[in-house]
Amino acid sequence: MEHKFWHERWKKSEIGFHLHEVNPLLIQYWSALQATVDDTVFVPLCGKSKDLIWLAERVKQVIGVELSQTAVDDFFSDNNLKPIITQGESFIEYRYANITVLCGDFFQLTQADVINCSLVYDRASLIAFPPEMRLAYIEKLDDLLTEEKRRLLITIEYPQNEMNGPPFSVPVDAVERLLSKQHRIERLDSKDIIDASPRFKNKGVSAMFEHVFLLQRKTICQ
Ligand SMILES: C[S@@+](CC[C@H](N)C(=O)[O-])C[C@H]1O[C@@H](n2cnc3c(N)ncnc32)[C@H](O)[C@@H]1O
Repeated sequence: MEHKFWHERWKKSEIGFHLHEVNPLLIQYWSALQATVDDTVFVPLCGKSKDLIWLAERVKQVIGVELSQTAVDDFFSDNNLKPIITQGESFIEYRYANITVLCGDFFQLTQADVINCSLVYDRASLIAFPPEMRLAYIEKLDDLLTEEKRRLLITIEYPQNEMNGPPFSVPVDAVERLLSKQHRIERLDSKDIIDASPRFKNKGVSAMFEHVFLLQRKTICQ
């Protein structure tokens, strides 16, 4: 999507994707990541997710990237955190304790920005991109994250002809197709969420599943 689209969504507070609690799937499947206190977690397209705080209590460092300054400002103010803010070349860096949020375009990140990121948490990030941008997103992540060990990936699947994204439907076979070259993929869960998703049901979506995957970088685990 164009940046303008997301800036508008944040401006109008049309952020139905935002959860007011920590994502229950993160809590449920956290152990699959086998995180240690020495790990650094990268959270692409982090919005103002409370998951950043939950993660920061469990690992050495959390690094998020988010386009919208409204989202980043809200994240820190909603959680009563006073970050140190530094204007960089491509990003405004917000830092509080072991949480860093880089405000700017994901595609401008360099390896130095995400150095030591050993784990990735992708919730509603891959599915935020239209199909024609997915590969660029996946390849950029793979290029950036030379130290990656494991990734928790959460996607949704629904009949794409019933609604325009985002969120876009990313079914299991698409995950396999996009990611199996560089990653071992294990599907940890698939939940039927249509009855719990009135905002999509009201738009005429007849079926919806939420999938949770554990990815392991092949280059590291072989
Ligand atoms: C569907 S939301 C998901 C947010 C978060 N992962 C969550 O679970 O609440 C996608 C987010 O990606 C951000 N975004 C979209 N394109 C981006 C880009 N190129 N770089 C950084 N952030 C981007 C949007 O502003 C939006 O907050």
